[in-house]
Amino acid sequence: MNISVIGTGYVGLVSGVCYSELGNNVSCVDKDPFKIEILRNGRVPIYEPGLQPLLNSNAAQGRLKFTIDTVEAVAEADLIIIAVGTPPLPNGEADMQYIEAAAKEIAQAMNGYKVVCVKSTVPVGTNERVRAIIATHYSGQFDVASLPEFLREGTAVKDTLHPDRIVIGAESERAAQLLKELHIPFTNEIVVTDIRSAEMIKYASNAFLATKISFINEIANICEKVGADVIEVAKGMGLDRRIGASFLRAGIGYGGSCFPKDTKALIQIAGNVEYDFKLLKAVVEVNRHQRFGVLDKLFQALDNVYGKTIGIWGLSFKPETDDVREAPALEIIDRLIELGAKVKVYDPKGMESFRRMYDHPSITWCEAAMDVAQGSEALCLLTEWSEFVTADLAQVEAALARPVLIDGRNVFSLDQIRNTGLAYYPVGRPV
Ligand code: UGA
Repeated sequence: MNISVIGTGYVGLVSGVCYSELGNNVSCVDKDPFKIEILRNGRVPIYEPGLQPLLNSNAAQGRLKFTIDTVEAVAEADLIIIAVGTPPLPNGEADMQYIEAAAKEIAQAMNGYKVVCVKSTVPVGTNERVRAIIATHYSGQFDVASLPEFLREGTAVKDTLHPDRIVIGAESERAAQLLKELHIPFTNEIVVTDIRSAEMIKYASNAFLATKISFINEIANICEKVGADVIEVAKGMGLDRRIGASFLRAGIGYGGSCFPKDTKALIQIAGNVEYDFKLLKAVVEVNRHQRFGVLDKLFQALDNVYGKTIGIWGLSFKPETDDVREAPALEIIDRLIELGAKVKVYDPKGMESFRRMYDHPSITWCEAAMDVAQGSEALCLLTEWSEFVTADLAQVEAALARPVLIDGRNVFSLDQIRNTGLAYYPVGRPV
């Protein structure tokens, strides 16, 4: 199949590379000539495990191209996938300007029947808007379809090549058939539905996962007060197949470019039809507070942080990515600095992106995990990179000026800690 993917962000790039891996001819289009140049030179502008070799091998075999020329890419394609950004507007609503601009450009390049899919996360009704925009410029036959994306950063290639399910929202049998054919090599679990339901499935899925996280975080907060262990609680709950074990890891809350944006957008979507989504509002509120648990624990351990040096392990919103958007670390570090602390930080991949977003003379940018611990009066683990999980705790204890370890992701076992003299502060676990 000849496919054109508009937008080479996370979703567009990973999808384009993975579709080419299955033998399709893919043109990835982006407005940014600098980015296209990087990709043409075989480099991946984001850190995503496994993406680089797949990109290189498919480009070498001539199945994967990068271009700024939307007209040519669309003209050659049977299927066009819109994967441009939908960043949040100040009121939480998704900004549709890039989707609309892409639809206009596609319209101008249409030269026969094609299926135009929206993969970006978009409010219900967006595909209909895309159809209307194309129809004002092009009178021939075409179909629009919703193709929501469920990949996670850090495991994006694996998630795309081996998805739990594919959701197709189609308005015609012809479009549904074409998209089913394309995805059968990925999985047999294909849900074909109407366009509006497909658009809703994406928001509902992310909102539900965010709800699981905020739920277990509140349980963890209660566990701390009643002396229960949230890891045991989550294990006991998760074995019930109706509940499921995943997304029940308590910690400092969710971050990233998806859950924070999509939960707020769904609240807004509901508000637009005069529905007050109370549960989801609470999920967002719980998440905002959860990160400050790290500060409460620092106060318990040190009384105050003024003039003290606090070590931070992990800046990215989760391991295996350099993405720091909405990372809990941003707000935690900002608050520490506001309270007069000095901060030493290290992240295996997220240092540069964090520094572009947030810099301050009170921050020392360290080159290794142990440099952070050296002389700090407390160490806070904010992202569960394996490098931190496997750290030698005796060495950590020796390096710290005060043996205080705040574990925002519950990565250490209580047995590991008992062998040390560390004052240990996990989330929702007795020590
Ligand atoms: C999320 C969804 O999981 C994907 O299915 C979806 O496609 C994507 O958003 C999107 O809409 O594009 P992602 O944000 O990449 O993916 O990462 P997740 O692995 O879902 O983690 C999100 C946040 O939740 C991270 O900050 C993580 O630390 C936190 N989390 C996750 C927890 O605090 N506890 C958990 O049990 C799981």
